[in-house]
Amino acid sequence: MSKILVTGGLGYIGSHSVVELQETGTEVVVVDNLVNTTASVAQRIEKITGKPVTVYNVDVCDTKALEEVFIKEDISDVIHFAAFKAVGESVDKPVEYYHNNVSGLISLLHCVKKFNVSSLVFSSSCTVYGDTKESPITEIHPIVEAISPYGTTKILGEEILTDFAKFCDTKIVCLRYFNPVGAHKSALIGELPLGVPSNLIPYVTQTAAGIREQLTIFGNDYNTPDGTNIRDFIHVVDLAKAHVKAIDYANANSISLDVFNLGTGIGQSVKEVVETFERVNDLTLNYTYGPRRQGDVEQIWADASKAKHVLGWETEITLDEMMRSAWAWQQTL
Ligand code: UFG
Repeated sequence: MSKILVTGGLGYIGSHSVVELQETGTEVVVVDNLVNTTASVAQRIEKITGKPVTVYNVDVCDTKALEEVFIKEDISDVIHFAAFKAVGESVDKPVEYYHNNVSGLISLLHCVKKFNVSSLVFSSSCTVYGDTKESPITEIHPIVEAISPYGTTKILGEEILTDFAKFCDTKIVCLRYFNPVGAHKSALIGELPLGVPSNLIPYVTQTAAGIREQLTIFGNDYNTPDGTNIRDFIHVVDLAKAHVKAIDYANANSISLDVFNLGTGIGQSVKEVVETFERVNDLTLNYTYGPRRQGDVEQIWADASKAKHVLGWETEITLDEMMRSAWAWQQTL
């Protein structure tokens, strides 16, 4: 039976996607260098699905080691998550980001071509839209300039794939994620931020747990109804499910490359999110308002109608559940 290779399959979005793939009966092989996760995530996935996960501790940049995986396993399709993802860190370490995210993709494409992979799903981000003023934003919005080296790696990734798709038979789908949050309902897998979190929800949950003293909301003087930034928060399980749909779509259609926004289509303010977290978990969060964070887009949310109509996918999990599951997960750490 042919298998789906999931790079970064023990990471946050990767692990939830492996669960969804296994639950649809797909055989999964994971490649992960454990740089941002732990090996025990594999056992946790197995506990949820009751199915074993084959894991190779391999860095996608190591083309030779990656080739060995393709030689051993009968890989028909690939979902490529393995990448660095912290916007702020990318400003301090741009070269590491170019290397890991862009060279990693090129290394993978070498194998994709050599082993005639049918379809490839690429983790992209709404960061490719840069400092846009337009929301809800559609996939046809021009990609102009990245706001961070991380964003540059996602734009370059999409460009390379657009070119690659012209010359190779592999079907490609780029998925532009908005703000993934929450955790699996089992509370066995979730986000494992290393050090001080830079993303909102891990900071919120760590503050509630007493690991951080106080959350600072970065700016309340934006031109939004309550003055705080607006984002499109999407539950990681909804996001994971879209990957299963994307693989099916890629294999069932003749389009060589396609791009989809993955969001709820609803913009929610940082203040609303914090208040929802407090309400559904029945606790009071210690937070204050601070200055704006450099590089933050004022407001961005998805027009997710293309994914709905073409992939037959839409989100099902509410913000309440996102905040409940994020807290349930934090309490297990
Ligand atoms: N925020 C705070 N306090 C914090 C952390 C975040 O107020 O301690 C605010 C931010 O200012 C922002 C919102 O919460 O308004 C969300 O911030 P995140 O860092 O959680 O997420 P971003 O929207 O900045 O980044 C996300 C993804 C990136 C992606 C980017 C594209 O994490 O991978 O969206 O816009 F590139």
